[in-house]
Order: sequence, then C-alpha cells, then structure tokens
Amino acid sequence: MSAVRPLTIGSFTAPNNLLLAPMAGITDSPFRVLCLKGGAGIVCAEMVSAHALHYGNEKSGRMLQVNPKEHPVSMQIFGADEPTIAEAARLAEQQGADIVDLNAGCPVKKINKAGAGCVLMKDEAKLGRLIEAAVKSVKIPVTLKTRIALNHKEFLAVRLAKLAEQAGASAITLHARAAVDVHSGPPNIEAVGEACAAVKIPVIGNGGIVNAAVAQQFFQAGCAGIMIGRGAVGNPFIFRDIIDVLEGREPASQTTQNRLMIYLELIRENAAYYGERIGVNRSRKTAGGWIKDFPNAAEVRGRFVRLETLAEIEALFSQTLARLQ
Ligand SMILES: Cc1cc2nc3c(=O)[nH]c(=O)nc-3n(C[C@H](O)[C@H](O)[C@H](O)COP(=O)(O)O)c2cc1C
Repeated sequence: MSAVRPLTIGSFTAPNNLLLAPMAGITDSPFRVLCLKGGAGIVCAEMVSAHALHYGNEKSGRMLQVNPKEHPVSMQIFGADEPTIAEAARLAEQQGADIVDLNAGCPVKKINKAGAGCVLMKDEAKLGRLIEAAVKSVKIPVTLKTRIALNHKEFLAVRLAKLAEQAGASAITLHARAAVDVHSGPPNIEAVGEACAAVKIPVIGNGGIVNAAVAQQFFQAGCAGIMIGRGAVGNPFIFRDIIDVLEGREPASQTTQNRLMIYLELIRENAAYYGERIGVNRSRKTAGGWIKDFPNAAEVRGRFVRLETLAEIEALFSQTLARLQ
C-alpha cells in the first residue's frame, strides 16, 4: 500500500501527507499557491517574528496574510516568550491559517541571540511553555518544527517529540540534521524513526528529500508525513511526481520548457503580489533552481538577473523558449 494518504493533524485533515517546508525568502504566498498546484498537501509559510508582530511591523503582518487559493496553509512563528507567541498564534489564526507552527530549529545567529529558533532545544522547559502558550491561545492545531540534534554528540529527537506531545502540539516536524550542519549533509532518518516510535502524534520527516526513494525511506522509518524544502525550488511539481512514483505511476516528465513557463508564471505572480520592482527582485533569488539544464542556461541566467521589468523578462523567456524548440 502506498504511504501517501490524508494527514490528520489535530482537528485538521490535509488531502495528502507531503508538505512544503517553510523557507524564508522563498515560501511566500505566490510560491505556496504554485506548490499546491504541484500536489503539496500542506504548504508552510516563511517564519514570522512574534516580536515584530507584537510591535505592529507592517511587513511581518503582511507575511501572515492568507490567499484564499492557498489552503491548507501552516503559518510559522518564532519567538522567545509566551505572551508574544500566544499573540502571534492568535493573529495567524485570525488571518485564516489552518495550522500554526512554532520554529525551534533555526540556526541563524540573530534569531538565536534573541532566544528563538534552535537554542530552544537546549531549554526544554521553556520550549514546553511556548508550545503550551500557543496551544492555549488558538483553536487551530499547533505544531513544532525542530531538529534531531544540536550537535553530533547528543540526539534529542525522542525527547523533543515527547515534549511536544505533552505540551499539546498536534504534530512535530523533525529536520533530520543537527543544527551545526545547518542544511547540509545526509539526513539521519534513523534518528527520526526513533521519535516516530516514541509518540502518538504524527511525526513529519524532513531533510534531503529530493525524490520518491528518499521520501519512501522516511515513510518506512515511521513518518506520518514528509516535508520538502529545496527540492521544490525550481520544481514545485515534485510533490505530484513523488506521489505518482509511490503510487506506482510514471511521473509526468517536466521538460525544460515547462519549467521555464512555470517560472515565468511565478515571476508574474510575484510582480502582481509585491509590485513589479520587488516582485522581480524576489524572483531572482531562486533563478539557479529554474534556469538550468540547457546548453546556454548560464548565459540566460546572467542576462535574467540584470533585468528589471516584467516586459524585458517576458521577451527573454520567449526568445529562450523559441530557441529550445
Ligand atoms: C533558504 C532557506 C530558508 C529557510 N527558512 C526556514 C524557515 O523560515 N523556517 C524553518 O523552520 N526552516 C527554514 N529552513 C529550513 C527548511 O524548512 C528545511 O528544514 C531544510 O531546508 C531541510 O529540508 P530540505 O533538505 O528538503 O531543503 C530554510 C531553509 C532554506 C534553504
């Protein structure tokens, strides 16, 4: 039987158990909509600072907005004290999030200095209180995203999964790498598997999932769901492809032309969402994931990153697509 199935997280059930990972600067509303079209069962938003929301920061407030086309969506918040976490969770719920996720895995220094992200893995009492504060403040399910370890000396996956469950979290996502490894190195799927066996709440496995074979390893380890980050950049249809393979179908092959057309759609959506200048700027960040694998890709990428208007970009894409035919 296929591992692909609906995923129940507390009171919410998603159509399938393949999730888009939260990625700051990438998993904004236009990209989330694209990944839902690409088969994701739940899409996770970029992390938003609870502290910034408390002080009415406009940009952070906007990051919580939910487009009616992007359900199911999980809004991720980060912070270090209970009242602001509770407030941020409430705001996410008010904006229409289906799930609110607490970040306890981010290794970025600035965030850690403020007592948030992966440093919470060292202070289990505090992490438990933050989860409880979020759970008490909303009706939607609260989840935790953390890592299997801070370093290579001590694995924390089982303890953190139990802690999340006891504090009332409806699921836990475990990035199968230690915080010291940031995003590189092979995932330790076995460590995630140990956590799966220790709790009743769904465990979602994450880290290095770029194809159905790796996804299957996480499912075999006991994961109720899997979460894909960088594998979806330049390939939002990875979810559908993995589902096809796991269900014994041939995945629809994505041609280079297809990928470029999807990228152009994303750039247009970004321009509509942020305004042309910021939208184009933001689109550039992931150009390497999209404009690749054809003979003059590097040259096209080089030209693309210097363009500033949608009209110029559309002209470059139509020229490139014509050459590829
Ligand atoms: C550019 C980038 C931004 C990220 N931002 C976040 C974030 O905002 N919140 C979070 O929990 N994890 C964040 N992550 C970690 C991812 O969610 C994920 O755990 C990690 O990339 C491993 O998955 P992957 O190997 O499939 O990419 C980020 C990762 C990347 C590469």
